[in-house]
Amino acid sequence: MHLPYMMQPLTFLLSLLLLADRGGARITIPENVTVPAVIAFGDSIVDQGANNNLKTLVKANFAPYGKDFIAGKPTGRFTNNKTPADLIVEELGIKEILPAYFDPSLNDKELLTGVSFASGGSGYDPQTPKIVSVLSFAEQLQQFEEYIVKLKSMVGEERTRYILANSLFLVVAGSDDLANTYFTVGIRRLQYDIPSYADLMVSSASNFIQDIYKLGARRIAVFGTPPIGCLPSQRTLGGGGLRVCAEEYNQASQIYNSKLQPQIEHLNGTLAQSRIVYVDIYNPLLAIIENPLQYGLEVVDRGCCGTGNIEVSILCNSLLPTCPDDSKYLFWDSYHPTDKGYNILINQVIGRYINDFF
Ligand SMILES: *[C@@H]1O[C@H](CO)[C@@H](O)[C@H](O)[C@H]1NC(C)=O
Ligand SMILES: *[C@@H]1O[C@H](CO)[C@@H](O)[C@H](O)[C@H]1NC(C)=O
Repeated sequence: MHLPYMMQPLTFLLSLLLLADRGGARITIPENVTVPAVIAFGDSIVDQGANNNLKTLVKANFAPYGKDFIAGKPTGRFTNNKTPADLIVEELGIKEILPAYFDPSLNDKELLTGVSFASGGSGYDPQTPKIVSVLSFAEQLQQFEEYIVKLKSMVGEERTRYILANSLFLVVAGSDDLANTYFTVGIRRLQYDIPSYADLMVSSASNFIQDIYKLGARRIAVFGTPPIGCLPSQRTLGGGGLRVCAEEYNQASQIYNSKLQPQIEHLNGTLAQSRIVYVDIYNPLLAIIENPLQYGLEVVDRGCCGTGNIEVSILCNSLLPTCPDDSKYLFWDSYHPTDKGYNILINQVIGRYINDFF
């Protein structure tokens, strides 16, 4: 019973060491540039606990999720430690972690340096959040509007405008539209071929970006989709007996990305004072999967949780064993990267794109 308390000093020391290590790697941005906050929208990649408060099965607020997070606490983040939203806000030197806007214990002061509105299982297709009862982009936008009202009452109109115009916005979605709604559930497959479904997704993404632009956002990072056919769960569902990467799924992801990128460039060129940047995660992730040893990884075809072939969300729980060393694994569960995987990916992404925002 006393064990957790006895372990605290050690955990504390370890966090200090890790912090010191990360601090050294922190990126430098031009001296005349400030990024007051990070604001995230989208799905489980940047869900910081929003789903804890929803009646949905898409949750991660139980062990073994959060195993390596502060105090080993499961917070609803769909990984063993920090999400990309946490890593980015930390790299920018803004704060340690990005909280969920939907967290009932949220301190109002956090609003000034950013929050996440993202909800695991969500997507650009309005059907996607409906299938799993999570927050749609329309609902995330509504909460963002409410956030702006609160911000204005705290710091006034002018400072609010400044915060919105200079903060980094992350928009991360699309995987669940393709992997769940299109391929697994299949409802959209009856109505659309892949290119026309990708058009629907891009059009919805584009509308959302214009909506947040109208509300004051200027620096917007829009993430493409990963090679979804290589996610452990999709290997199991579509990769045959050998669980190879499901080629049709990867092609769908590429088709979507190839339509998204020019649309993002178009928005960047037409919306005044905006820096709207398409972030490619497809190629960096595929490079890791094809050459894991080069990145210090050993296992890339299954998650660390349970068998690793299918367990995600409530199927990845404390009844299951986890792998002995998750730092050798790219995936934590059958759908989401480990802390190690996210760190490799996000370091590359920041290095490649950060200067496009200034
Ligand atoms: C920062 O300074 C550089 C060089 O003087 C300039 O080109 C750039 O526009 C400035 N950026 C901002 C946001 O003021
Ligand atoms: C976005 O537009 C600006 C001009 O407004 C341009 O300087 C920049 O290169 C564009 N960024 C991208 C990623 O295309």
